[in-house]
Amino acid sequence: MPTINSNYLNLKAGYLFPEIGRRVSAFAETNPDAPIIKLGIGDVTEPLPEACRVAMQKAIQDQGKAESFHGYGPEQGYGWLRSAIAEHDYKARGCDISADEIFVSDGSKCDTGNILDIFGPGNTIAVTDPVYPVYVDTNVMVGNAGPAGDNDEYSGLVYLRATAENNFTPQIPEQRVDLIYLCYPNNPTGAVASKAYLKQWVDYANSHGSVILFDAAYEAFITEDDIPHSIYEIEGAKTCAIEFRSFSKNAGFTGTRCGLTVVPKGLVGKDSSGNDVALHGLWNRRQSTRFNGASYIIQRGAEAVYSEAGQEQVKGLVSFYLENAKLILEGLASQGLECSGGVNAPYVWIKTPDKMSSWDFFDKLLSEAHVVGTPGSGFGQSGEGYFRLSAFNSRASVNEAIDRIAAKVSV
Ligand code: MLT
Repeated sequence: MPTINSNYLNLKAGYLFPEIGRRVSAFAETNPDAPIIKLGIGDVTEPLPEACRVAMQKAIQDQGKAESFHGYGPEQGYGWLRSAIAEHDYKARGCDISADEIFVSDGSKCDTGNILDIFGPGNTIAVTDPVYPVYVDTNVMVGNAGPAGDNDEYSGLVYLRATAENNFTPQIPEQRVDLIYLCYPNNPTGAVASKAYLKQWVDYANSHGSVILFDAAYEAFITEDDIPHSIYEIEGAKTCAIEFRSFSKNAGFTGTRCGLTVVPKGLVGKDSSGNDVALHGLWNRRQSTRFNGASYIIQRGAEAVYSEAGQEQVKGLVSFYLENAKLILEGLASQGLECSGGVNAPYVWIKTPDKMSSWDFFDKLLSEAHVVGTPGSGFGQSGEGYFRLSAFNSRASVNEAIDRIAAKVSV
């Protein structure tokens, strides 16, 4: 009988979103007529942009003819997509990122976990608190963190507290860490990072030999001019940061799957003898061995995001969800609830009323208003006493959810 990866036994509970799904299904089973509105998991609801659908349909036709058929593609992604990304997402914002530093994948959630394959054991890992749980759980899985203590925090991880007092932008640690996960615009708080704040991180990472794992999955939602969309807008980031991006939230690819990871060529880690080794080569090797590339059809769809029509349609989708976020933010604030986020992100972060616990508030909204959100404590200790509502739903459902919450909750 084979042994198992015992690190998995250190994981506290099921992954957050399936756990929410389980509770919602249990409620629905006993209350089959309750009209549940889901503003929990950040899953998009609007159809794919037309430009993407047309491109994917054409790609299906390509696959139907021997002369345009595509079998295995490059593991790193097709050149035409990597060039479009480099041009539109990076060069247009003054970031010196070349097409061959971009690795196309089937989503940034996978990449943020898979990236640990190229880092050795024994690294010190810093995460923000609250945090997207994937960063934490994947480190537990590979043994970078030990068992969780009574406060549900894993031994060995450095937690950087993101609170209302620091605008959900944690202080740079005093101690040295090897890897730092940052996500801005932030999931779950919806907070943003200024250039000056990210510059502090870049300077810290370069002076301590650390690597920043920067998740920019929500950059398309930035509405304020001076907020950076990429870590590479910060001078010095190319020698200390890897960036993850996604087509999920901007172009609605949550079920279609396409994302990307940028590993600059000048970025290095150390081998066991202390020699510098380029991370680009390691990630390339990892992807070439373990991944066969995102599908041709999907990559053609992603390429269409950068067409004139695609850009216009994606802008429309993002504005639609941002308008939902604004309605949630203003609707709940008018009930006296303390809310933040929602301006440069599709998430509104709400302080629970009367010091209710996050899960109690979840149960109250589910049972009384039939509205599903995400309990802040599911994102970490500092999320306790908070609740996240996502802006991903129809306008009618969002308006209805706000009315129902308002009828049940006021401060
Ligand atoms: C969330 O709700 O936090 C997101 O759906 C996470 C994800 O994109 O995986």
